[in-house]
Amino acid sequence: MKADILKRLVQAHADGDDAGFRKAALQLAATEGNAGHTRIAEELRALIAQLPERRGGASFAPPELAAVDIAQPRGELGGLLTGGFRQERLRDVVLGGETKRLVERLLQENHHRAALESWGTPARRKLLFFGPPGCGKTLTASVIAGELGLPLMTVRFDGLFSRFLGATAGHLKVIFDEMPRRPAVYLFDEVDAMAKSRGDAQEVGEVRRVVTSFLQLLDADRSGSVVIAATNFESLLDRALFRRFDALVPFEMPDTKQLEGLLRLRLNAFVLPPRLLRALAAGALGMSFADSARACEDAIRTMILDQRRELTEEDLETAFAQARARVLMTGIAHGSAPGGATHAGSARGVVPTPASGSDASAAPSRTTGKHSRRSRKDTG
Ligand SMILES: Nc1ncnc2c1ncn2[C@@H]1O[C@H](COP(=O)(O)OP(=O)(O)OP(=O)(O)O)[C@@H](O)[C@H]1O
Ligand SMILES: [Mg+2]
Repeated sequence: MKADILKRLVQAHADGDDAGFRKAALQLAATEGNAGHTRIAEELRALIAQLPERRGGASFAPPELAAVDIAQPRGELGGLLTGGFRQERLRDVVLGGETKRLVERLLQENHHRAALESWGTPARRKLLFFGPPGCGKTLTASVIAGELGLPLMTVRFDGLFSRFLGATAGHLKVIFDEMPRRPAVYLFDEVDAMAKSRGDAQEVGEVRRVVTSFLQLLDADRSGSVVIAATNFESLLDRALFRRFDALVPFEMPDTKQLEGLLRLRLNAFVLPPRLLRALAAGALGMSFADSARACEDAIRTMILDQRRELTEEDLETAFAQARARVLMTGIAHGSAPGGATHAGSARGVVPTPASGSDASAAPSRTTGKHSRRSRKDTG
């Protein structure tokens, strides 16, 4: 695998193919990253970011658009894409069984592209994420970018839809033109925004044109970049759109087990009795991952403002009760959270581990061990 990449690197250099060189170098960085050589991976990426565009005409790039910095788009692109390398990894997201298997499989395919392509089978890389709000679509796009060692380029809909309505399709083309030159994960987040302005007939016409050109560009795309579209209104997206994607990835409201996983993840700096986590998770049924994550943050804020270093069960119960009330008020509760009480047991304080903020393996509790977010600091 690495030998293949090195051959491609040398070949691209010999051909004066800057885009090919960049792509192979990024793949090399990704391979090193996956092998756990994170320092080397980061150094390679830093070097790639400094590569000058020496031969504008050598690749797919029209010369006027060729000089782009790998980390952050500039000029017209800067108004259309925001980007950068991501720290998120699989351990940072809790996914339902089917979704988890699919995401892992898609990552595996993209890690083994060369092997698949040698059999004439491409890795699936045009993905549609769909499901209710706050269930990890945007986060998972970051995870995919982080795991593949590619930058995440998020399309800015404010830039895409300028005051000049007719310009949108042109903007989309600029983005798709960029894909072969800048291997990355391109995220069309909340893609239904493309179909949201249905005010007058003229706008409907514009929206239709935009969706049509999105479909055509998606169809024609052979860039090798990963393209993710995310929506929580899958019913808005017509069937033609579904056909254009290699994989449809469903995201669902969490069950209690997944909520418990989220709590462990978000509260991993504290030693918590498992029974408390279970009770909080049971009470949080009907809340999204995002609602529950916010409640954890609320509890931690209370602790800090009270100048304590211990998170109490009361902090957590109050924060979750308030979160549940918010969810019920906004009418988006999907499950049942009867009564709202968590029966969390004793009022024993919940203490941060001395190792919090360092290594996951240093966390002493079964409830805190393997989900540490902090341990990512060595992944840069
Ligand atoms: N599956 C999950 N695992 C861990 N944390 C999650 C998960 N889903 C959501 N979160 C937390 O909630 C935040 C918001 O989630 P995210 O933006 O990914 O939701 P979304 O599905 O994209 O929602 P929307 O449809 O509103 O865009 C995340 O940054 C993370 O803190
Ligand atoms: Mg989102």
